[in-house]
Amino acid sequence: MDKNALIKFEKNKNHIGIVILGAGEGKRLKLPVPKPLAPCIDLKLIDFPIIESKKFLQKHSLQGKINVVVGHGRDQVTSYVQSRYDGGIEFSIQEKQLGTGDALKSFFQNSNNELCDYVVVLCADTPLIREEELSALYSEMKTRDLDGIAATFELDLPFGYGRIVHSSAGKGFRIVEEKDASIDEKNIREVNSGVYIFKTQFVIPLLNNLNNHNKSGEYYLTDIFSEDRKVGVKKFSSPLFFSGVNTLAQLHDVESIMRSRINTSHQNSGVRFISLNETYIDTSVKIEEGVVIYPNVHVRKNSHIKSSSVIHPGCIISDSIIESRSEILPYSVIDSSHVHSEVKVGPFAHLRPGSILKDKSKVGNFVEIKKSTLEKGAKVSHHSYVGDANIGEETNIGCGFITCNYDGVNKHQTNIGKNCFIGSDSQMVAPITLGDECFVAAGSTVTQSAESGSFIISRTKQVTKIGMAKKFLKVDQKKGL
Ligand code: UD1
Ligand code: MG
Repeated sequence: MDKNALIKFEKNKNHIGIVILGAGEGKRLKLPVPKPLAPCIDLKLIDFPIIESKKFLQKHSLQGKINVVVGHGRDQVTSYVQSRYDGGIEFSIQEKQLGTGDALKSFFQNSNNELCDYVVVLCADTPLIREEELSALYSEMKTRDLDGIAATFELDLPFGYGRIVHSSAGKGFRIVEEKDASIDEKNIREVNSGVYIFKTQFVIPLLNNLNNHNKSGEYYLTDIFSEDRKVGVKKFSSPLFFSGVNTLAQLHDVESIMRSRINTSHQNSGVRFISLNETYIDTSVKIEEGVVIYPNVHVRKNSHIKSSSVIHPGCIISDSIIESRSEILPYSVIDSSHVHSEVKVGPFAHLRPGSILKDKSKVGNFVEIKKSTLEKGAKVSHHSYVGDANIGEETNIGCGFITCNYDGVNKHQTNIGKNCFIGSDSQMVAPITLGDECFVAAGSTVTQSAESGSFIISRTKQVTKIGMAKKFLKVDQKKGL
């Protein structure tokens, strides 16, 4: 390996390799994707340790690299991570899953990585770990000048975890896996989280000497720790940060904790939730101070809700901007749209992609808008379809209005000027343009454009025959039944 071609190391700076172990299969999750790609909120499991690792490196101004050890489904994992992080993440391939010790060894197959001063080890399936825990572990290691440190915590039911066996002489410690533990060791409540930091020069020779003489026949990374080495633990008070995801039930629990973290952080910055645990907000969403969110609301995909808007129950908002002081009434669905200030939408409204509702406009119940603009103050209050249209300022659209925008092959545009009154149950057969201040009589099918100020009516004349209703009502027969 040509070491000149490698990352440039600055003097007097610590270089960190963060290794995320993710070669395992994750069979118990029963998902059609490798475990690192299991969905979690709007991201995948693997995203969380990557995001927190980046924060950690940034916070300490550390020179470092993030490396994912891949094995099962490695092409899928690699292409996902590469596309998302723009090539900033490296990969090590572990051909066979021979154990966590062997997984870390695969990181050092690239001799460039031996140049790191420290190596931080994380798992792809523990998404709750945060930069704060990594920083605490790192500073403890440096303060005590240890060669290796493990994050630990206590559990009343430690089943399944490696147990921490402290040296009676008070020096190092070792870790015994569940399968290999004696009855006494199984009673130990302090467990190994699977998160470690090592000095590189300390860990490499030990990795090369690991054996697999244990009940699993695996090369255990945990065998790096022993009583006679300069290693220590940092015991965390909460097990919450280290919960692993092996089953769908655990994925559900971890997602709930993640969701509560997201919501709490919005709450701390001034968002009022009516029910914190029944609101579903993606990691990519921005919400400003003074916003109120009722239960069962989903806000997804880079949406931005600006100050003092209110989102009523059951709304789904995706990839959209809601400006200030707008109100989204219950059960409305808003997708890839822009709702300006002081707008009312819903209840039961559907804004499809490309809808723009300018200030003080209104979209009422059972209205569908698609790729259309409602200019300032325009109103479509009831049961209507507006597609490929521009509705002018202060124009009022009556109930049951339809833009006939599709001829079976192409979509066509409808333009209606400002201050128009469009009567109920009228249709615009597009392409069509009405000028400003037009009046369309109720029940009209408008097929021709009209200039400003026009009155438009298109319906058959009414015929009224006094007294003839009874012929059709058949009142007498009904009474006889
Ligand atoms: C490991 C620890 C255990 C600890 C527990 C915490 C060992 C031997 N034991 O056990 O002390 O309490 O984590 O959750 O390390 N992986 C690979 N390649 C392999 C094997 C595993 O990349 O060959 C990856 C997995 O994808 C996973 C991580 O390493 O992300 C941990 O492996 P896992 O098999 O879950 O270890 P545990 O049995 O949980
Ligand atoms: Mg595990």
